[in-house]
Amino acid sequence: MDATPNEHARKGPRPLEQVRPEPTPIASPGGRLGVLLPGLGAVATTFIAGVEAVRRGLARPFGSLTQMGTIRLGGRPERRVPRIGEFVPLAGLDQLVFGAWDVFADDAYESALNAGVLERGQVEGLRDFLQQIEPMPGAFDQRYVKKLHGTHVIESRSKREWADRLIADIARFREEKACDRLVMVWCGSTEVFLRPTDAHQSIEAFEKALDDDDESIPPSMVYAYAAIKSGIPYANGAPNLSADVPALMQLAEDNGVPLAGKDFKTGQTLMKTILAPGFKARMLGVRGWYSTNILGNRDGEVLDDPESFKTKEESKLGVLDYILQPEVYPELYGDISHVVRINYYPPRGDNKEGWDNIDIFGWLGYPMQIKIDFLCRDSILAAPIVLDLALFLDLAARAGMDGIQEWLSFYWKSPMHGRGLYPEHDLFIQLMKLKNTLRHLMGEEQITHLGIEYYTE
Ligand SMILES: NC(=O)c1ccc[n+]([C@@H]2O[C@H](COP(=O)([O-])OP(=O)(O)OC[C@H]3O[C@@H](n4cnc5c(N)ncnc54)[C@H](O)[C@@H]3O)[C@@H](O)[C@H]2O)c1
Repeated sequence: MDATPNEHARKGPRPLEQVRPEPTPIASPGGRLGVLLPGLGAVATTFIAGVEAVRRGLARPFGSLTQMGTIRLGGRPERRVPRIGEFVPLAGLDQLVFGAWDVFADDAYESALNAGVLERGQVEGLRDFLQQIEPMPGAFDQRYVKKLHGTHVIESRSKREWADRLIADIARFREEKACDRLVMVWCGSTEVFLRPTDAHQSIEAFEKALDDDDESIPPSMVYAYAAIKSGIPYANGAPNLSADVPALMQLAEDNGVPLAGKDFKTGQTLMKTILAPGFKARMLGVRGWYSTNILGNRDGEVLDDPESFKTKEESKLGVLDYILQPEVYPELYGDISHVVRINYYPPRGDNKEGWDNIDIFGWLGYPMQIKIDFLCRDSILAAPIVLDLALFLDLAARAGMDGIQEWLSFYWKSPMHGRGLYPEHDLFIQLMKLKNTLRHLMGEEQITHLGIEYYTE
């Protein structure tokens, strides 16, 4: 009689048949990696100060996959679970140098104090370091961020001149700081809502629009253009279109530059992409999801403008539709009322409060409710994302990967995706995709979690 699966399991697992891919050649991570940040506000300063605090041994990099995460390799019996930072050749924290642009002249010390995310004592302890990071004047036009009255700006309204100036800033920074490689992560304010136009469809049309000061080219797009032209990876932490247009995607592919975006996945949307896959996994229906936020930082003030809020709202609303697939499960998710609100409430500063009321239903249609009150710290959640993106985009560039880096969807509210594909929002699929990409790069087999080999002769 054949042995039962359990008997096989008791005999111990058999060696796996491994079909390993060839490892991808990856250039050495040595040297200095410059991290350029358009926008030296709450997120950027929390990131910079945090990296320095970790470097000085004063704090731990919680929330960062590159610093804390592990990755399983091979079958379970092999028990190979290295840290991600030991498995893939990433730049170390000691190799990072920081540069920024902002439309206010405050250095990183003053800006960190204004942001009020980190405790004053902690910022004071890093004062000497933070004061050295002074922002370069920003490419700015108030039409795109109505609530900001920037004073530290490039003195030209010509978008072509902005691009030339930013490209020159990048080259100067690279030389002055003796950087071997650079990456750029947009940490600037959320711009007004824009739809892609003809000007965004090809490189030629885009460059003509730049020359013509076309309205459809906001500052964030000019930064993205300058980065890609300079051959450096670009990530967009805000929901602005920025690099998410065919012209810049094409330019990135032509120039061998990795791209990623959009909108750091923190707070409420992080919770949504954790919970919604769970409801769907258990075939629990969702009738409504009401999300409201109060926050009092500068980001909150900018989002108080309806046009900037519209950009954010679009980014936040997309998530549930893609995860719950109402077209596949009309009875469960076909009639959801999904509402998102953000209110500017100064007393809270960066310590946002996000409430969710979720109306779900189960067996025979009986309704239930879930309430979430997330007292989160926005920039504390965002800072490790900036770090991971800088290190992973640098890895991608050294591995010869260009264009959209969909494997970094894990970090985004609105993941950029290739033509004809839909974005992947489920946090757990995103994590598997990220780790499988690392395995693939390093010539390790993919983990499918099938596990049948442990129970068959
Ligand atoms: N904190 C989070 O959890 C989180 C999550 C997702 C997305 N974001 C996005 O990240 C961005 C930064 O957030 P924050 O909390 O640091 O905001 P912030 O307002 O503290 O900082 C943004 C900075 O960008 C500057 N800026 C605006 N336009 C600029 C330009 N054209 N050039 C150079 N600098 C410019 C502003 O002066 C400001 O100092 C926002 O767009 C926000 O929506 C933040």
